[in-house]
Amino acid sequence: MIHKSTIDAVFETARLEEVIGDFVQLKKAGSNFKGLSPFSDERTPSFMVSPVKQIWKDFSSGKGGNVVAFLMEHEHFTYPEAIKYLAKKYNIEVEETEQTDEQKQEADERESMYLVSEFANTFFQNSLHKTEQGKAIGLTYFKERGFTEETIKKFGLGYSPDTWDAFTSEAIRKGYKLEYLSKTGLTIVKEEKQFDRFKGRVLFPIQSMSGRVLGFGGRILTNDKKAAKYLNSPESDIYHKSKVLYGIYHAKQSIAKEDNCYLVEGYTDVIQFNQTGVTNVVSSSGTALTADQIRLISRLTKNITVLFDSDAAGMRASIRGIDLILEQGMNVKVCSFPEGEDPDSFAKQNTLEELKEYLENNVQDFISFKASLLQQQSKDDPIKKAELVRDMVVSISKIPDVIKREIYIQECSRIMDISEDVLFNTLAQILNVELKDQKKQQKQEQKSLEVVKTEKKSPKVNEQYELELKIIEALLLYGKREEEFEDLVLKENEDGELVLEPETHTSKVFEKIYLDLQDDEIEFANDGFKSIYAILIEELHQNEEFKVENFINKIPPEIAAEITAILMNDERYELHRWVDMEIHVKKKEYTIAQYVSDIILNLRRFLIKQKVEELSQEMKAHNTVDNQEIMQDIVDYLSLRKILSNKLNRVV
Ligand code: CTP
Ligand code: MN
Repeated sequence: MIHKSTIDAVFETARLEEVIGDFVQLKKAGSNFKGLSPFSDERTPSFMVSPVKQIWKDFSSGKGGNVVAFLMEHEHFTYPEAIKYLAKKYNIEVEETEQTDEQKQEADERESMYLVSEFANTFFQNSLHKTEQGKAIGLTYFKERGFTEETIKKFGLGYSPDTWDAFTSEAIRKGYKLEYLSKTGLTIVKEEKQFDRFKGRVLFPIQSMSGRVLGFGGRILTNDKKAAKYLNSPESDIYHKSKVLYGIYHAKQSIAKEDNCYLVEGYTDVIQFNQTGVTNVVSSSGTALTADQIRLISRLTKNITVLFDSDAAGMRASIRGIDLILEQGMNVKVCSFPEGEDPDSFAKQNTLEELKEYLENNVQDFISFKASLLQQQSKDDPIKKAELVRDMVVSISKIPDVIKREIYIQECSRIMDISEDVLFNTLAQILNVELKDQKKQQKQEQKSLEVVKTEKKSPKVNEQYELELKIIEALLLYGKREEEFEDLVLKENEDGELVLEPETHTSKVFEKIYLDLQDDEIEFANDGFKSIYAILIEELHQNEEFKVENFINKIPPEIAAEITAILMNDERYELHRWVDMEIHVKKKEYTIAQYVSDIILNLRRFLIKQKVEELSQEMKAHNTVDNQEIMQDIVDYLSLRKILSNKLNRVV
């Protein structure tokens, strides 16, 4: 865990506008900055950054939060990754807490392996660009492949000198331990001797989602038939082949933006596509696609387009990948390239427009692709054909969308020349088995479901949501203000009647809210608001000086978006929305005290209304004896509601 002092230091030091400025072009607009949303394609800027409040809000996507939330959204960092990124940017030392010695050693070890890999990356790049051998052999090769200088730099391509231990001896000389050189596989240790794994190869560094170098792929440059064309770093504590996608670091933003990810076979396909201008592309280099890799993509988009060359081996590999993607609940499309071409060679020979056009015109739904392919292979063998048809229907049954399912059945029927009836029957059989399994599971989940249902059933929930939001908003904007509140209290007059009389008292806004809600034992229905409320009240109680910008750093990024909307754009929460929600306010000389009181009153009124409805329902279901009691309750509640309505100056 990162120590709290580090997190505090990061928040104190980091300037949101600087951090965001690295990714989005910002222009000053009043006291804020404005820019084009990095989360959607837009022409008019709706992305706002407040340097004063240190929050951002993207009005086109609804996202918002503090500096960490931005990095989590934009760079797809985890929370610790975001903190570490900022610490690095602002030269803050990261302190970690409460690790056991063993954990510490593991973390240190991984960190050392990262450092060694980073060093190797620099070394290989230097040797490509700055040594005679590197330039003559490595750089020439890349240029012949059609890679530009810019592309070579972008992907950090390198060269390992063609001598046994040029890299290893330099690393040792620089103080890197042999242990980590060996653990990352950069050096092969045999008895007393050490060899460079990638000797004489050009190198493709493999980066994590956040850009750290995890390992390398090295391509041989000679025609040595015995040596592998591509050699990869071995599996290690920092490099888990099945969980990494080559190119993801450069692709993540455009994958999210385009809402689609192209999946290709290898390094060169990824690079060539990037150079041509299609950047939402990754490859599972060297291994068959895994579920972990698909999940990595699913953080960014639900759509994958598998691209492959037309040879049989490529197709077979793709088919396996397709089923796996379907199982992960993603949408799959496929696109093959003309005879003798792969994504690399095709992108190299065509302009961006041509490439885009080809992709658009040749992308196929996976079922029709699969159907046509299987059909080719089993045309004359009826038993095989029957098996394949069933296999296809199983795949179709995985599609959640009923309409799509039907269309695919029709398509399958057409291609395989089998009646739709038979296919639908088969589909029904498969789905029935699944349905039974699902029902079993549902019964087990029934209890928890019921709780959720009662919360969701009333359409009035929106009104409650708005009111709860209003309370949070009032706490944020006016929490520490001292105001004169006017309360109507029940008093006996000279004639002995109970009447409502105004009484004023001074109190802080947050105290007023807190005490009133406590009096009525009101709990927030919305879980997000409930936890924000708890943190907020505690902060306001404890800190003499409450600062909104400090507060925003204390709540989980997932629930901060709602808050940023309030803070960024107070005007959006103007009175007209109250009228929309059938919430009633007095408009003349409206003071903050009145405003706050009214929110609380409205919430109470709402809750009473809800209670009365509940009781009426109950009455319908009970016998007459019980009904009398319930009736009394209802009458009590109604009179309470009348009092509240009087306070709100309106007649029910
Ligand atoms: N690949 C791999 N391991 C291999 C062969 C290929 O990982 N043993 C991957 C590489 O990432 C490569 C992609 O598959 O970028 C395409 O393979 P291929 O065309 O054989 O590699 P090239 O380097 O393009 O070789 P050639 O110049 O012969 O086309
Ligand atoms: Mn090739």
